[in-house]
Amino acid sequence: MNTTHPRARALTALTSVALAAGVLLAPAAGAAPEEDLPRVTVVATGGTIAGKAQGRDTFTSYRAGTYPMADMVAQLEPEIGAFADVDVVQFGNSGSGGYTIEQYRELTATVEEALEESDAVVVTTGTDTMEEFAYWLDLTVQNRKPVILTGAMRPWAAGETAGEAGVIGADGPANLLQAVRLGASQKTFCFGTVLMLNDEIHAARDVTKGNTTRNDTFVTRQLGALGWIDGASVHVQRAPARVLDCVDEDWFTPFDLDELGSAALPRTEVFYNYQQAGGEAITAFTEAGVTGIVTAGTGAGGISSAPGQARRAAIAEGVWFVSTSRTGSGTVDGGGEGIIAGGDLLPQKARLLLLLSRAFTEDIEQAREWFATLGTPSFDQSALAGTVSPTPGGEPGEEPTTEPTTAPTTPPATPGTGEEPAGEEPAGEVPAGEEPAGEVPAGEQPAGEEPDGSEDGTDTAAGVGGGGSGGGGLPALGAPVQAALTAAALAVLAGGTLYALHRRRTWAVAGE
Ligand code: SIN
Repeated sequence: MNTTHPRARALTALTSVALAAGVLLAPAAGAAPEEDLPRVTVVATGGTIAGKAQGRDTFTSYRAGTYPMADMVAQLEPEIGAFADVDVVQFGNSGSGGYTIEQYRELTATVEEALEESDAVVVTTGTDTMEEFAYWLDLTVQNRKPVILTGAMRPWAAGETAGEAGVIGADGPANLLQAVRLGASQKTFCFGTVLMLNDEIHAARDVTKGNTTRNDTFVTRQLGALGWIDGASVHVQRAPARVLDCVDEDWFTPFDLDELGSAALPRTEVFYNYQQAGGEAITAFTEAGVTGIVTAGTGAGGISSAPGQARRAAIAEGVWFVSTSRTGSGTVDGGGEGIIAGGDLLPQKARLLLLLSRAFTEDIEQAREWFATLGTPSFDQSALAGTVSPTPGGEPGEEPTTEPTTAPTTPPATPGTGEEPAGEEPAGEVPAGEEPAGEVPAGEQPAGEEPDGSEDGTDTAAGVGGGGSGGGGLPALGAPVQAALTAAALAVLAGGTLYALHRRRTWAVAGE
């Protein structure tokens, strides 16, 4: 269903009548003409934000996905119309958990279509799987314009329509207003998809739902929010590393769904590990034709013995595995035959990247590279250290006054990342996973524990020791600096010698 906002329809009709009469409509005094406002499309899928509660004071008992978005946006007039020209696409109206991956694919197409005309898109969904909606769009939308996910933790109203019996303290109206404000601001252009709820802005890749009921449920562990919105002020103080590629074609992900045509998307699943977990789930997934399984392991990715055996059997059948952690934050390194290290991707996010990887390549080394680069984008400015003057007044590209203390690394396969190229496992790496780091002393693998992704059980702390420079030694100094230091040392030596001779001569004279 595609619904144009009633206000926009009314304006179009009014404008036509005025033009037909040869009258030029002047904008109201002080009001900006509507054409000058950024256009923001709200693509609505349902969730609590569109929920109808049993009563105005009922926050947890409601029917999600009830009110049409056009009615909800109308409740925000005239305020929302002061900063954005809003139109609505009612993509669906149900709980977030009910959407299929095939519908995700349609959602990407809908968002891309809206962005052809609009300056930004706000997608409203239920919060339960909003982080998955967000990451899917982040990985698949081929457009640099802002895409923002929002929703609510409390239902909108308790009446027959969205305009009746508003729920006391409902967060939906403010979240919708601020998400549109963020889109209109264009401040997240080239950020990919972000999530805005409770006035906080989070990166789609990193954000997760952290509480069942609180309004501040969304968190980005380890890294924190990208920014926040105070009233009408949008503050964006961090960015996903991807933003550095903004002017480059490499900004776009390889997952252009148009290239797949009508081919069915592969199935990928998540296996959750725990004490003495069984391996039957992995075996059943494999028999069901699942092509990729993410293991949510303990600690740094360990899985129990039985699923370990089932994993080896599944790999022999051609299933790809991604090793992640159930801890909720931190990195899983390593990998091996049939197993890709998930980095710090949460299991549910890694599962989407694995699904797209299986859809776009037959080559696990290519998939490994995608996980290490676009799956784990990180800032790496080291190449600039050799080309940009570190001190004021230097021209870009001028010889730096000192050489970088570390040699610039080979440019990564995908710009903006500094991860290992695909398939370059550290020598001697064994299939995904030794014991979880720090859980047991080195070499003491607990009974039933399956390796999760390191060499020998002694260094599972995500590459501890491996990434260091080895310590010791002085940084390499540039030739001019070395020359200056040598000259200074000679001057000190010469001065000291002259002074000593002078003192000897003075003492000798005094002693005469
Ligand atoms: C849902 O995810 O659809 C229900 C929960 C919510 O929207 O907060």
